[in-house]
Amino acid sequence: MTKNPLTDALDVYLDLGRRPYTEVVSQLEHALQCAWLAERESGDGDLVAAAFLHDIGHMMQKHGQDAADRGINDKHEAIARGWAERHFNARVAQAVGLHVEAKRYLCATRPGYFETLSPASVTSLELQGGPMSDAEVKAFEAQPHYQDAVKVREWDDRAKVAGLETPDIDHFRPYMESALAA
Ligand SMILES: [Fe+2]
Ligand SMILES: [Fe+2]
Repeated sequence: MTKNPLTDALDVYLDLGRRPYTEVVSQLEHALQCAWLAERESGDGDLVAAAFLHDIGHMMQKHGQDAADRGINDKHEAIARGWAERHFNARVAQAVGLHVEAKRYLCATRPGYFETLSPASVTSLELQGGPMSDAEVKAFEAQPHYQDAVKVREWDDRAKVAGLETPDIDHFRPYMESALAA
């Protein structure tokens, strides 16, 4: 990565984003669908930026795209968090970094949530530690911006629609520009 963090990030999506996210959407389609849900349902620019970027760690990790199938937790959220903390504001970095924990949180606190997860999300949930314990729930709720991460997670779970037409990357770029660290 050499140019500027946002151009680099968007190049990652343009280059590697064609990789599958699920059987029916690519990483880029997933990011665009997630950001579009955030834009329409929150109008909050930081959340749109976080929704677009939340899975960039999948394209930065070195375990291969089939890591979960091989029983490996790729820790994509931690990789992305370190990167986002260097380049984006704290809200965005936190929402990106906590989106996996938010799944574990919702499994523990929202009745019926687990049943909505895709098969791939269920597989990765086991590798990520399963539903949170009561102590983990309390610790999660003590984190700043944890509700942002929950919102991103809810859009994440829905951003898996085959063939859905969305705005393109350029539409979402200004949100990410505004969310760059000062
Ligand atoms: Fe993820
Ligand atoms: Fe995702």
